[in-house]
Amino acid sequence: MAVLKTLLIALAAAANAPAGVVAFQPDPRATNTGLAKRADPYPFCNPATNPGCIAGGKYLVPVLEFSSENGPGDLAYQQYLPASPWTFSKWTNGLMPERCYYWGVTADKWKATDFLVYNVTYTDCATPFVVCRHQKATKSIGQLASQIGKLPVRMRQASSIYIVYGDLNSDNPNYGGYMATLAGDGVVVGRSVAYFITSLVHETGHAVDSTLASPGGGKPFSGTAAWADAVKADGFAVSAYGAGSYVEDFAEAGRAVLLDTVVPGGLAAFTGGKNANLTQITAQLKAFKAVAGTFYTPGGKCDLAKKFPFPAKLVKRE
Ligand SMILES: *[C@@H]1O[C@H](CO)[C@@H](O)[C@H](O)[C@H]1NC(C)=O
Ligand SMILES: *[C@@H]1O[C@H](CO)[C@@H](O)[C@H](O)[C@H]1NC(C)=O
Repeated sequence: MAVLKTLLIALAAAANAPAGVVAFQPDPRATNTGLAKRADPYPFCNPATNPGCIAGGKYLVPVLEFSSENGPGDLAYQQYLPASPWTFSKWTNGLMPERCYYWGVTADKWKATDFLVYNVTYTDCATPFVVCRHQKATKSIGQLASQIGKLPVRMRQASSIYIVYGDLNSDNPNYGGYMATLAGDGVVVGRSVAYFITSLVHETGHAVDSTLASPGGGKPFSGTAAWADAVKADGFAVSAYGAGSYVEDFAEAGRAVLLDTVVPGGLAAFTGGKNANLTQITAQLKAFKAVAGTFYTPGGKCDLAKKFPFPAKLVKRE
């Protein structure tokens, strides 16, 4: 029942969220449950028992294999997304961003003193990003900075804080989540193992949905009629996980758009030989590119007018 549990946790968290989207990247651990033997292990809408299901639970098949670490999509991002060089500096003032404290300590029950806080500054963005890394995280600050630095900077600028937890068997067995985005807070949060490029692309999609793709602070683009119309015109969600809701489908469309942009020959080449019927997601790719395509293009610099600001409110790390 791991799939169901993950979904319930996601919904519960969403109900408590103050602002912005809370949404989970599919949990690869679900592949070990025996629930699904298909290439895509997230049959939330087959049958369409989840009330949020879109497109009648239908989605593009054969699936775009872009969910798993070191799967085809992840490998393509690793190969074709340029790395942005970084430097980091550790905070020594005994403080942490209040949002790291709120989510990491108050909400998710890790110990404040177990977090170390870093500025990570990329050569493509003068303003640092903040990483609050729990000491039980299995990825080093350098590994984390490198993964995050693969995100095109104009996507990356939709967030400003990354909270990185310990993994399974760490000292917080009560934490049942995997990875989430709190777009209203500019936060991506999750277990260390969840910090790989395709999962960051998915999560950043939620941040873009709520900020850059919906200027003026209105509702996320995925909640607009324009997005619903694109889904209806296609009649298929971008992936099985995307079929779970318009919000998830938008983030999944972002993965497809980024592959289409960076893989030579685009999505057609990425799916080469698999007979994926890409006409089933044409309207979604087009609608996505219209509002966010410019952000899903590597290169350039962050735009300080658009970047989610460096956290202003700090608290004691104790
Ligand atoms: C982190 O970045 C902020 C904002 O640029 C800066 O004020 C602060 O001094 C930096 N701290 C460290 C330890 O580099
Ligand atoms: C591709 O999908 C479209 C929309 O569902 C359908 O009309 C078309 O027949 C499909 N093409 C193939 C080759 O299956």
